[in-house]
Amino acid sequence: MDRYLVFGHPVRHSKSPFIHTLFARQTQQELEYGLAEPAVDEFAQALCTFFDQGGKGCNVTVPFKEQAFTLVDQLSSRAKRARAVNTIKLTDDGVLLGDNTDGAGLVADLKSHGVTLADSRILLLGAGGAARGALAPLLAELPSELVIANRTHTKAQQLAAEFCDLGPVTAQTYELLAGPFDLVINSTSASLQGELPPLAPGLIHADIAIYDMMYGATDTPFIGWAKQHGARQTMDGLGMLVEQAAEAFTVWRGIRPGTKQVLRELKRNLGVI
Ligand code: ATR
Repeated sequence: MDRYLVFGHPVRHSKSPFIHTLFARQTQQELEYGLAEPAVDEFAQALCTFFDQGGKGCNVTVPFKEQAFTLVDQLSSRAKRARAVNTIKLTDDGVLLGDNTDGAGLVADLKSHGVTLADSRILLLGAGGAARGALAPLLAELPSELVIANRTHTKAQQLAAEFCDLGPVTAQTYELLAGPFDLVINSTSASLQGELPPLAPGLIHADIAIYDMMYGATDTPFIGWAKQHGARQTMDGLGMLVEQAAEAFTVWRGIRPGTKQVLRELKRNLGVI
């Protein structure tokens, strides 16, 4: 049977095996999908061994995405832009192809929630790996403006300069942000420390869409805060997780699984519904 897995550390709580097993069942693809948690300095060896032993493809998550970028034979253009790889496919010619489906997953999830990206004013919080992966797919949707704000402003400036050939992207400090924005996307890891990005509450209004790439069984701190200040449409990153997986499955198997039912099952599994 064709073998796939996700590399990460830690990875025990990954939902990817659950998601891909449902995709495989739904599309009647014969495959198995597991987990691998190599020591941080043993990822390269583990990746080699997996493919030497007949593995067909894998996902790569924290903290290995940047390393995977340097280890594959070929890169998709979206992986080149993201400078990170979350999906690897062994092609029929024996080439290890590195791709990045995170940004496409974000855009697909935003669209499935009915969020309009064309001509919209988007605020992206954070300038780390997650922001970098999102930029090209977001700009491809032709927003009227995309502003990046980051605690370390120079990183936002560098990112804006790097992507400005793709669309109207600029950097601004949190203090000087001027609304109104149609959509705010939180790509920061602030929630992991139970913190909030230092956004002025005045930027939140009833018609704004709020997206947090993090997720949990209850509202993330950022979503809770945005609701408190009047945001009516809030979305967490669970849909992005399923959509980036669907995109990876499509890369591997050439068949696109449906995501709605799988997202429902995942919510049930997490105790969200
Ligand atoms: P990831 O790959 O998840 O994007 P990362 O590359 O470590 O992780 O980036 C984390 C992002 O969250 C950064 O933009 C970071 O801001 P700095 O560049 O100033 O470090 C941001 N971040 C982390 N904690 C934050 C906090 N408490 N408030 C605001 N931003 C925070």
